[in-house]
Amino acid sequence: MTLSIECQDLMPGRQLIGAEWREASDARRFDVTDPATDTVFASVPDGSAADARAAVDAAHAAFTIWRAVPAKQRAQIIKRWNDLVMANQEDLGRLISREQGKPLAEGRGEVAYAASYIEWFAEEATRANGDVIPAPVTGRRMLALKEPVGVVAAITPWNFPAAMIARKIAPALAAGCTVVCKPAEDTPLTSLALVKLAQRAGVPPGVINIVTASRERTPEVVDVWLDDARVRKISFTGSTPVGQHLARRSADTLKKLSLELGGNAPFIIFEDADIDAAVEGLMAAKFRNGGQTCVCPNRVFLHERVHDAFTDRLTGYVAALKVGPASNQNSQIGPMINARAAEKIERHVQDAIAKGAKVLTGGIRLSALGPNYYAPTVLVNVDSTMACSNEETFGPVVPITRFSNEADVIALANATPFGLAAYFYSSDVRRIWRVADALESGIVGINEGVLAAEAAPFGGVKASGYGREGSVHGLDDYMHVKYLCQGQLH
Ligand code: SIN
Repeated sequence: MTLSIECQDLMPGRQLIGAEWREASDARRFDVTDPATDTVFASVPDGSAADARAAVDAAHAAFTIWRAVPAKQRAQIIKRWNDLVMANQEDLGRLISREQGKPLAEGRGEVAYAASYIEWFAEEATRANGDVIPAPVTGRRMLALKEPVGVVAAITPWNFPAAMIARKIAPALAAGCTVVCKPAEDTPLTSLALVKLAQRAGVPPGVINIVTASRERTPEVVDVWLDDARVRKISFTGSTPVGQHLARRSADTLKKLSLELGGNAPFIIFEDADIDAAVEGLMAAKFRNGGQTCVCPNRVFLHERVHDAFTDRLTGYVAALKVGPASNQNSQIGPMINARAAEKIERHVQDAIAKGAKVLTGGIRLSALGPNYYAPTVLVNVDSTMACSNEETFGPVVPITRFSNEADVIALANATPFGLAAYFYSSDVRRIWRVADALESGIVGINEGVLAAEAAPFGGVKASGYGREGSVHGLDDYMHVKYLCQGQLH
């Protein structure tokens, strides 16, 4: 059975450039696959270099108009976008679940999560305040103003097809920037629907342009944006190698960059932790979106004194998770995005077993459901030589390593090039501040597994990238500071 989608008017099936919903310049299209059934259910234009250039032309022309729209008016348009997104929550939720695979409750939840960023930045648009600086000499006035950077290229991932678009486009619009966007090839439909609603909310032509492209054509589209000096900023969520490529390739035009890249999040449970709360936090953090989240715990460190009690309880919960398609309302874990993703999880688990890890539950692909399903898995006796300790598994696997002291576990947690999220559970207040200070991570969860919120800064350190999304900092990423100095006032 497949998940029905009612909202045909939210599926334009074309890309938006300027005022026009168009086919690709050479009329090529590519297929969109339902990961639950591995069957094609839609197609969208396969955008070309010519489309990418046309999108920048439109965004560049619209920039002078949009930046001059008073902030309050921009805020009202963005707020209307939020209202329309929430009014279409059910349809958008179904669309997300159909093309991305997450259970329907999570699809609906993602719509609300996306809208929370849109609403937040509608409000922030009116607060892009600058500074009046006390002058060091008489007869001068000195000011620092915030200005929109210009045309922004937003390149978004498949794991949160609505939330990542919202988290990039809403602050860009609030700042007065215009946008060219390329959504992930696996999940282009949700982004087209969101852009359709933005248009309906009154976002003027050219302010948001969206080019859809297949995996093969994506480099052609992105290269145009990298080379074009009119594109002043790139906001990207995805892998570290691609982020590094974008940073290198945008050096010639010195674009501003926000890079939200890979993670390898540690989740530490100390001997003084509240074990029930820690199990609950780990379940929430690890199994959100089937483990396909950059901030998902990827390495779990358990103190030896609580190891057995914790793993017993955890294994019971994990073994009870219901795996299945979003069309089944009991499903808690959906398919992985594609067979490559399921194969990677399989490789990590097999590698861990070969090097001495033990499977407490799961450890297999659920091929009877389809090629993209993997059983929720708990592994113990995991160590740092295993692939699952060094690469993001991006799936429903909990790899557990035993530890005996705080200094060792902090060293282990930080022994990774990445630094997006880290979590720990402890009830010792001195330890809490010590460990929070020591973890090399942009985001730290203390006795909490669910961290993301529109009012909080989201982003990493080290190879997890730079820039922040959400919060007051999320608007600054789309602005630069202009210093004005007027003299001869005496
Ligand atoms: C991500 O996986 O990149 C985003 C996750 C989130 O917003 O919590």
